[in-house]
Amino acid sequence: MSNTQKVAVIGLGNIGKALANNLLKGNREIIVASKNFEDAVAFASNAGDLAEALQIEEAVKSADIIIPTVWFNVGQEFVQQYANDLKGKIIIDVSNPIAQDENGGFKKIIAENQSSGQIMHDLVSDNAKLVKTFGTLGVESLTNAAHQQPANAMFYATDHNEVSNTIEILINDAGFEALSIGGIDQSIRMEVFGDLHEFGAIGKSVTATEGKSKI
Ligand SMILES: NC(=O)c1ccc[n+]([C@@H]2O[C@H](COP(=O)([O-])OP(=O)(O)OC[C@H]3O[C@@H](n4cnc5c(N)ncnc54)[C@H](OP(=O)(O)O)[C@@H]3O)[C@@H](O)[C@H]2O)c1
Repeated sequence: MSNTQKVAVIGLGNIGKALANNLLKGNREIIVASKNFEDAVAFASNAGDLAEALQIEEAVKSADIIIPTVWFNVGQEFVQQYANDLKGKIIIDVSNPIAQDENGGFKKIIAENQSSGQIMHDLVSDNAKLVKTFGTLGVESLTNAAHQQPANAMFYATDHNEVSNTIEILINDAGFEALSIGGIDQSIRMEVFGDLHEFGAIGKSVTATEGKSKI
C-alpha cells in the first residue's frame, strides 16, 4: 500500500526518530522538522531521498498529516500556535499524559478519567481531524515490533471515519496492522495505564490477531 498524502514528523526525539525510521522502512516519503532545524537536516541527510527536512512552519503548511512527536503540554501549545495552518488536516496524537513521580516511576498529569487524546481532539475539533495512534508502545517495541510477519497490531481511535483509510495506510507503511478501537472517547484505553497500552493490561506488543481479541 502507498499513499500520496504528505506526512510530517515534527520533533525528532525517541518516538519521532523511531516512527520516522519505521515509515522510511515502509518506503513512505516523509517531511521531518525539529525545534533545532539542524537536527532535521542531519536526520534527512542520513535517510536518503525519502526524507526532506523543513522548518516547522513550512512542514505544517506542506503536509496533510502532521505528527507532533512531542510531550503532551508541547503538543497542546503546538496545535494552538499553528491552528490556521492545520485547518482541514489530520493530526496524529502520540502523547501520554504522564510525568515522572517522586519514586522514579510515572504519574498521570490529568484527571484519572481524562485522556490526552480527548483533550487534543477538543482543542482542534473546529479546525482539524485528530487521530490517536502510535503512542501505545514504548520506543523499543515501536522499533522492534514494526515490519514483522505476522504483522503486529497498532490501535487507533478517531471520530473522523472519513480518514480511516488514510490512517490505515499510514499505519501499514509504518509496519503495523491498523486496528480501529472506535471514537476518540476510547483513547484513554491506548494511553499509559490503559488496557491497550504496553504499560497497562496488555503488557507488550501483540500480533494483529491477538490485538483484535483485546478490543
Ligand atoms: N518514549 C516513549 O517510550 C513513548 C512511548 C509512547 C508515546 N510517547 C509519547 O511520545 C511523545 C514524545 O516522547 P519522546 O520519548 O520521544 O520524548 P523526547 O525524546 O523528549 O522527544 C521530544 C521531542 O520534542 C521536541 N520538542 C520540544 N519542544 C518542541 C517544539 N516546541 N517544537 C518541536 N519540537 C519540540 C524535542 O526537541 P529538543 O530535544 O530539541 O528539545 C524532542 O526532540 C510524548 O508525548 C510521549 O508521551 C513516548
